[in-house]
Amino acid sequence: MKNKTKIAVFASGNGSNFQAIADAIQAGQLDAEIMLVVTDRPNAFVLERAKIKGISCFAFQPKDYDSKKSYETMLKEKLRVLEVDWIVLAGFMRLIGPVLLEAYDNRIVNIHPSMLPAFPGKDAIGQTMASGAETAGVTVHFVDAGMDTGNTIIQQSFSVNGRDREAVEKEIHAIEHQLYPAALQQLFKGERT
Ligand code: GAR
Repeated sequence: MKNKTKIAVFASGNGSNFQAIADAIQAGQLDAEIMLVVTDRPNAFVLERAKIKGISCFAFQPKDYDSKKSYETMLKEKLRVLEVDWIVLAGFMRLIGPVLLEAYDNRIVNIHPSMLPAFPGKDAIGQTMASGAETAGVTVHFVDAGMDTGNTIIQQSFSVNGRDREAVEKEIHAIEHQLYPAALQQLFKGERT
């Protein structure tokens, strides 16, 4: 059996999904090791969370690079040195380009706050509420070159039931924080057996 799966978590904001993953690892529910937290926003709160957990971080600003190709080449090298097996997107608000997609073919996953293919892209919860949809949910999926278009790994839905945005958002996050670590454990276990 292989050792723990080495992952890099990419996040742009609050980092509550990073927190759920790190907590699941600490609780022995997810056999993985977070080698690096990567953020494209140097003020992202995820950095504070990672510091508390003692996990290394790398913050960069895409505008400091000529192109997506150049910053992804830099990231790829960092991940190679750390022997990262999988990239886990947790609220990373940028499309992944060919450099990382080729290096991590079928080893990049994302979580999205809707029942894809419904409501891809930004503010999926706002899109759900504005549409008047009766069902909301969460999708964990493989990442491809499109916007939230990769193959689905697992989904969980619930009935909106007339609730307001705040309540729906709370439920979505509660689902995400259970679903993502559990889905990752299944994926990585499959690799190890
Ligand atoms: C999560 O709800 C995640 O599903 C969403 O961003 C939020 C990040 O929250 N991702 C997307 O919309 C990706 N298209 P967090 O920073 O607290 O983990």
